[in-house]
Amino acid sequence: MYRNCNRLSVAGTRETAFIYAILSAGVVHATTRSCSLGNLTDCTCDMTRYGEHHVEGWKWGGCSDNIEYGLQFSKKFVDAPEMLTQGSNIRNTMNLHNNEAGRKITEQLMDHRCRCHGVSGSCAVKTCWRSLPMFRQVGDALKAKYELSVPIAQRSKRQPRRKGKTKRRQPIKDDDLIYVHKSPNYCRPNEKKGILGTSGRGCNKTSSASDSCDLLCCGRGYNTQVLTYVSRCHCKFVWCCHVQCKTCETVLEKHTCK
Ligand SMILES: *[C@@H]1O[C@H](CO)[C@@H](O)[C@H](O)[C@H]1NC(C)=O
Ligand SMILES: *[C@@H]1O[C@H](CO)[C@@H](O)[C@H](O)[C@H]1NC(C)=O
Repeated sequence: MYRNCNRLSVAGTRETAFIYAILSAGVVHATTRSCSLGNLTDCTCDMTRYGEHHVEGWKWGGCSDNIEYGLQFSKKFVDAPEMLTQGSNIRNTMNLHNNEAGRKITEQLMDHRCRCHGVSGSCAVKTCWRSLPMFRQVGDALKAKYELSVPIAQRSKRQPRRKGKTKRRQPIKDDDLIYVHKSPNYCRPNEKKGILGTSGRGCNKTSSASDSCDLLCCGRGYNTQVLTYVSRCHCKFVWCCHVQCKTCETVLEKHTCK
């Protein structure tokens, strides 16, 4: 699996763009989280605004996630291999841009969490802190960016430029994913390119999204398996002290591509 990912990550396609961006975002996220947990010696929570009042009436408190540290660390660590050859070729430009896009998107999703203080939670005093998004949100945002990723012209080395005529004047944004090569056909296995094909993949018969059998199976159709799951259910607490359950059977249809 890892080898396959590795080969996909050298291809220069929009999938490559996604892999670079999510890796870079993952480093930001994990590093920042570790700062807040006190697991790193070089960083802690971001306390720069601690105690200050916000115009909306609340007070900075708690542990603000130190995303600045995470961003810097990701830039140093994830960009390092690319920096050796910066600007020398288009793939290099592409990778650096997508690394940065992963960081930008994580940063954009930063939010506030608050806590109320006062008599029985009356919220007489409210303290808030900056909080990382859940990584799932980062993944969803990157997936949306992946769907809209921008092809760039082969000759744009330092500054990426859009490929094609129609939208040439629209600038590429910092948080856009960019790619150089068209994606290969992922339907059929291609060992040389590290593509497994979609035969055997589980798919959703009723979905019309990317997990639908129509799309995933590339028109080859699918097999249906009827599976019976046995699980414990209708559990009751019996005084004292054990839990009594019934056994339930669930019948599920499972579809896999031919
Ligand atoms: C932080 O440290 C604790 C205790 O040493 C450990 O259990 C936890 O997995 C660490 N978390 C991260 C994100 O590294
Ligand atoms: C399949 O797709 C439908 C429609 O999008 C959805 O409601 C359902 O939960 C999906 N089933 C599974 C097993 O993912």
